[in-house]
Amino acid sequence: MSSGDGKTPPPDIGGGFGGTHAVDEMERREQPTHFAFDEESEKRIPEILARYPENRKASAVIPLLWLVQEQMRRQTGVAWVPKVAMDVVAARLGMPPIRVYEVATFYFMFNTRPIGRYHLQVCGTTPCMLRGAEEVERACRDATGITGWGQTSADGMFTLSEVECVGACVNAPVLQVDLDYYEDLDYESTLRLIEALRRGERPKPGSVKGRQGSAPEGERTTLLDVPGE
Ligand code: FES
Repeated sequence: MSSGDGKTPPPDIGGGFGGTHAVDEMERREQPTHFAFDEESEKRIPEILARYPENRKASAVIPLLWLVQEQMRRQTGVAWVPKVAMDVVAARLGMPPIRVYEVATFYFMFNTRPIGRYHLQVCGTTPCMLRGAEEVERACRDATGITGWGQTSADGMFTLSEVECVGACVNAPVLQVDLDYYEDLDYESTLRLIEALRRGERPKPGSVKGRQGSAPEGERTTLLDVPGE
């Protein structure tokens, strides 16, 4: 585990930022001392709370944590959930803060410490692994200088995580960048993608081979006949 002295990097445990080092990270100096929902978030809260019975407001914990993370992305350019914001969510939902910490540190979708400007999430589950996820990972490391999961590049541009299946196996291997999926990648196309991001470009998400959805590459090979013709 991290020593919690703000100098020792977290261990390379793979995956996101939940789990054992979350508590240590909460003690880091980068934690802000104040958080308040902004106008845009406040507008969405009543609509979210209306989905749940009045005495089950705690059910809104995940959508509210997501609002926090997106607000942090808007305000600071870095999508994460500070501890003080978890406390604000707990107060808003009338639940013990520890219950919010449990949720925020359990799901990979929540970053409990600051990350780079772009979050590179390599899917390492079996279909992606069989289709070349290790080459995608190698390209991510070569292009960013990152040597271990959970690390952020020296220029602060990229954070690299390994994630479990993101549900796009038909176009494996997949790299999720923030909220966008890039599919059908290989070493070279991953390098090109990261260089484009570094230049401030945002390539169109989806199959880098231009497949439509999960259709075959090139011409159709099935369903060629029109019944009755
Ligand atoms: S295994 Fe990678 S998207 Fe499903």
